[in-house]
Amino acid sequence: MATCPNCGLPAPHDGPCPRLNGLNSSSNIVLQERYELIGLLGQGGMGTVYMARDLRLHNRPCVVKKLRDDFYREEDKEKAVAFFQREIGVLSELQHPNIVHILDRFEENDDYCLVMEYVEGRDLHNILQERGEPFPEEQVRDWAIQICEVLEYLHEHFPPVIYRDLKPSNIMLDVKGRIKLVDFGIARPVEEGVDNTHVVSAGFSPPEQYWGAADPRSDIYALGSTMHFLLTGKDPVALHPSSPRAENPAISERIDAIVQQATAQDAKVRYQKADEIKLALLEELPAEKVKGKGHASDLVIGASVLAVVVGGYFFLQQVEKMRDEVGVQMKAFEKEASKDAKEKEQLKQKLKAYSRAVEANDEALKEWRRLATTRNEGQPTKATNADVAAQAVGEAQLTDPEGLDPLPDTGNGSTTP
Ligand SMILES: Nc1ncnc2c1ncn2[C@@H]1O[C@H](COP(=O)(O)OP(=O)(O)OP(=O)(O)O)[C@@H](O)[C@H]1O
Ligand SMILES: [Mg+2]
Repeated sequence: MATCPNCGLPAPHDGPCPRLNGLNSSSNIVLQERYELIGLLGQGGMGTVYMARDLRLHNRPCVVKKLRDDFYREEDKEKAVAFFQREIGVLSELQHPNIVHILDRFEENDDYCLVMEYVEGRDLHNILQERGEPFPEEQVRDWAIQICEVLEYLHEHFPPVIYRDLKPSNIMLDVKGRIKLVDFGIARPVEEGVDNTHVVSAGFSPPEQYWGAADPRSDIYALGSTMHFLLTGKDPVALHPSSPRAENPAISERIDAIVQQATAQDAKVRYQKADEIKLALLEELPAEKVKGKGHASDLVIGASVLAVVVGGYFFLQQVEKMRDEVGVQMKAFEKEASKDAKEKEQLKQKLKAYSRAVEANDEALKEWRRLATTRNEGQPTKATNADVAAQAVGEAQLTDPEGLDPLPDTGNGSTTP
């Protein structure tokens, strides 16, 4: 099918080209008898993005993204269709205030189209190009924190989604100053199986993405590269860690260190999770950001802080009380334990004394036997007075040699022959 060189729509147009025509006229192209294309918003590697209005919903503004159809090789087209369908699949699963909402999908005249909410605003690449200078550090930090929140959501989704195409042209800034991610063309849920996408955006993609091994840390790399671009206005160098301070010495060492760590070539050296880099960025927030200045939201913050302080006071009192109670219990326990230890020691001494007595008794018995044997030529006979005396010594020692209680009778005591 022939396409218009200006807008990529099927040609000849039924009326003037929407790209040239802007928001004009009733003669614009209407798809599905519902979406009227009224202007061109962007043209990327994957497709053409049109501003449109939804005729069925009171001309509500929306955006139609149409997949490119000028692929030279059939296999390229098949791959692009697969990516496009995956984009639709991924977007349908997601719901987050910083992610563009998908509204519809359809195929018409061999064209694959996706309809999404219109983000009133512009992408960060366009904004920077137009203003002709990089953004202040504080501004970039604020956007980066918002992006971290989207990445946290994506990476913690089930199954986790790796965005894989974070770069200024895919990040929209709406009129309320809110970040919105568009373009989930190569986003991919982490699933079993081989990642054979191998699609990269030079400078923004980390080394591992070149061989199809992206993981959540790949998005952190792309965030670092994006920060570099926004802070310097220069594209990050492909497959190199970025250092915005090397381009602009006015940039703080701290934010430079954050970008450098995020863009480490070795994924193990990077921040491992989006909340780690978010924490590092939050530490950088200037104090006046949280100081009350009479603004409504500041008042809410003030009230919350007061509530926390008052609540905290009562909580601390409770903790003090609990600590006292625990202290008393601990002391009683320690006393019991030391009493136990004393008793144990006494018992040990007693056992030692008894074993000494048993040994002495054995010796006495041995001696008595020896005497009896030598006197009767080896034949045991009636005990003499000396024998009884020797035995008496043994028995006496079996009682209480050191003033302790007698041992219980075990039945194994020595018997007189
Ligand atoms: N929902 C939207 N609302 C407003 N503008 C949008 C929207 N979606 C995309 N755009 C604009 O269109 C541009 C191209 O969109 P998108 O990135 O989705 O297309 P693409 O063909 O995948 O781009 P590329 O392959 O170059 O990344 C964006 O950079 C943005 O300026
Ligand atoms: Mg894009």
